[in-house]
Amino acid sequence: MVRTDEGTWPADHRKDDKMTVTTKTMLVIASEASVSETIGRTLAAEPGVRVDTQSSTLAGMNGRAVKAMADYDVVLFQTSPDDQADLSAIRELVAHRRSGTKLVALADGNISLTQARALANAGVDEVLPLPTATGDVDRQVAQLGRRPSTVGNRTGRIIAVAQARGGAGSTTVAVNLADQLASGAGLSRRDPRPKVAIVDFDLQFGTIGSFLDLGEQDTLMQLALDGTIPDANFLEQSMAVTSNGLSVLAAPSKFAPLDSLRSDQVAAILDTLRQTQDYVIVDLPRALVSWIEPIVARADEFMIVTDISVSSIRHCRRLIDFFTQDNPAISVEIIVNRQRRPLLQSQLQREAAKVLGRRLDHWLPHDPQSAAAASDRGQPLSRAAPRSSLGKAMTQLAKSTRSGLAARIQQPTE
Ligand SMILES: Nc1ncnc2c1ncn2[C@@H]1O[C@H](COP(=O)(O)OP(=O)(O)OP(=O)(O)O)[C@@H](O)[C@H]1O
Ligand SMILES: [Mg+2]
Repeated sequence: MVRTDEGTWPADHRKDDKMTVTTKTMLVIASEASVSETIGRTLAAEPGVRVDTQSSTLAGMNGRAVKAMADYDVVLFQTSPDDQADLSAIRELVAHRRSGTKLVALADGNISLTQARALANAGVDEVLPLPTATGDVDRQVAQLGRRPSTVGNRTGRIIAVAQARGGAGSTTVAVNLADQLASGAGLSRRDPRPKVAIVDFDLQFGTIGSFLDLGEQDTLMQLALDGTIPDANFLEQSMAVTSNGLSVLAAPSKFAPLDSLRSDQVAAILDTLRQTQDYVIVDLPRALVSWIEPIVARADEFMIVTDISVSSIRHCRRLIDFFTQDNPAISVEIIVNRQRRPLLQSQLQREAAKVLGRRLDHWLPHDPQSAAAASDRGQPLSRAAPRSSLGKAMTQLAKSTRSGLAARIQQPTE
């Protein structure tokens, strides 16, 4: 953790919900205290701007801090453009930034054109001279605070669904949760329908496309082959949309090596989607590959689908430890599948809850007939078997997920 003038950092800027007054978050990184003080003071005077300052060089900040910067709308940093360490730190920052994060370099006024170009090539959006006594730069900096943020005004919640063993039912949960949220489960008829996307990151074994009877979709394969960073247009054009408005990014139909996606591509997919969607549901891969890290870092909630067997509960525990290692307060919900909610919990169920350190609040009944009807027709349960016990349990799960996330937004836990 890095300390800033405002306390422990990084703060969770995602909690700036769309219902609150839009706040522009800016970070100033400068090795000279006078630079960060002048700029911090100028920006702090702008309404709707929140400024953090950091006394350091960009290269002097550790990798984790660099990644956390991606949560700011604007990052201004003092740099000397000949410094190779700074240039590689800029590239690292560019690789992890949210597509709307603006990078502004503050350099000596004598900077040459070649040096300015080197900064631009590394991914810097704007170069400003360091503040001078005349106050010229202050005006330019103040302008940065006034310009509207390029980031969309949605801050979608990311829900990552994992499984305690193969076949536990995680794709069934992910697909039907997404479908129910998109249909407005728990909302009144007059409320606008939320925008929902589902992403199948189970790259090699993903089945979301067949759960929803979609044609072959090779967007993730194309990204894996090209190595490009997707933007909002590319994603919008590539995603299939179901009849109730759910956007789907399916797994490749051909075999893709697990390491063929990179962390920065996965980060860009999620960051782009959460700017345009209210909920982004992610079906996690079985293997804990390296590019799972940006998903874990961004998720607002994890769901683990399990049964109550000793081996599944042990694996569940390991997953909880993994998901919570950097953020102990993050919500991890346990979904017990193929078992009706018991009136009185058995000894085994109580022990499972104790091992997991969580209440077993969500139960989905064993309902092979409805599950088979849904998969035979390639439809969500809301269409294939809406009145079934499994269909109703899914509606209930979506309602409690929606209200749980909304409650956490109103009462953020730091
Ligand atoms: N509650 C349930 N009752 C009956 N059948 C179910 C239930 N939940 C899931 N199934 C069925 O179990 C099978 C596996 O479910 P699903 O594909 O969702 O699991 P998964 O955890 O994603 O598996 P994988 O390891 O293949 O990714 C599917 O055929 C599904 O229809
Ligand atoms: Mg699956």
